[in-house]
Amino acid sequence: MMMKKVLVATEKPFAPETLPIIKKICNEAGYEMELIEKYESQEDLIEAVKGANALIIRSDKVTKEVIEAAENLEIVVRAGAGYDNVDLEAATVHNVVVMNTPGQNSNAVAELALGMMVYFARNLFNGKPGTELKGKKLGMHAYGHVGKLVSNIAKGFGMEIYAFDPYIESENIRKDNVIPVDSAEELYRKCQYISLHMPANEKTKGSVNYNLMKQMPKGATIVNTARKEVVDEDSLLKIMDDRSDFSYLADVAPDCKDEFEQKYEGRYYFTPKKMGAQTKEANINAGVAAANQIIDFFTKGDITYKVN
Ligand code: 3PG
Repeated sequence: MMMKKVLVATEKPFAPETLPIIKKICNEAGYEMELIEKYESQEDLIEAVKGANALIIRSDKVTKEVIEAAENLEIVVRAGAGYDNVDLEAATVHNVVVMNTPGQNSNAVAELALGMMVYFARNLFNGKPGTELKGKKLGMHAYGHVGKLVSNIAKGFGMEIYAFDPYIESENIRKDNVIPVDSAEELYRKCQYISLHMPANEKTKGSVNYNLMKQMPKGATIVNTARKEVVDEDSLLKIMDDRSDFSYLADVAPDCKDEFEQKYEGRYYFTPKKMGAQTKEANINAGVAAANQIIDFFTKGDITYKVN
């Protein structure tokens, strides 16, 4: 029998410590690990997946074309939380199992969210007097792995935490000393800071709209370490125009970045490249979990983290 091939395809590479561990896990199970990183075009990915039985990816785009080119592919594991970069329908049609590794890189994202808030509240460390987070109200829009961790860290700053998540029982939010609210409107009305933690899907794309944003109190700041698509950009530009007290911080710039640069100086911060999960710890956790999930799938048929 041919040795199964696990392809690690990461346009944005894992921290270097990650790959030897993934390789060891694969080899010990009798599989081969191959690598394509920092690749420049989808064609490179399409070429590389041809012999692969399993694929480990990050935000890499696993399109219908990629799935169709990978004739031996049985499983794709997104080393991370969001799988909006994978064509689930095409995967299902071709009998390919898709999984994510929920929670494995969440702490890195949570630390970045708070880091951006501190950096911004202190005027990007320019030496002028800023503001403090202590005593301010922070609203978690979605209370999954990252939302929970952001709340925990923010409590240490003395912030008052609220959360809206229609998929989580209020009781489970309350027991973390976080105040659950019944609607997104209520959350935005109450909180000067809103941190976004929902996945990008048909329901959430564009859901952070003008009607929500306009509810926010004075000094409103939205922190987006989720996906740029969850914020409706026409609404974002309109609220930035309407309210000079409104700010937007995001891990990866919106498509309307140029307008921000021209019109809203001092009221935004965008990371140059998506870096929420860019820590050694997050990469090792997510990469190792992905490798183990692949082995468990091949050896035991385990589909615990299947998302399609
Ligand atoms: C995720 O969905 O896990 C995060 O957004 C991290 O994405 P990345 O692996 O592309 O950094």
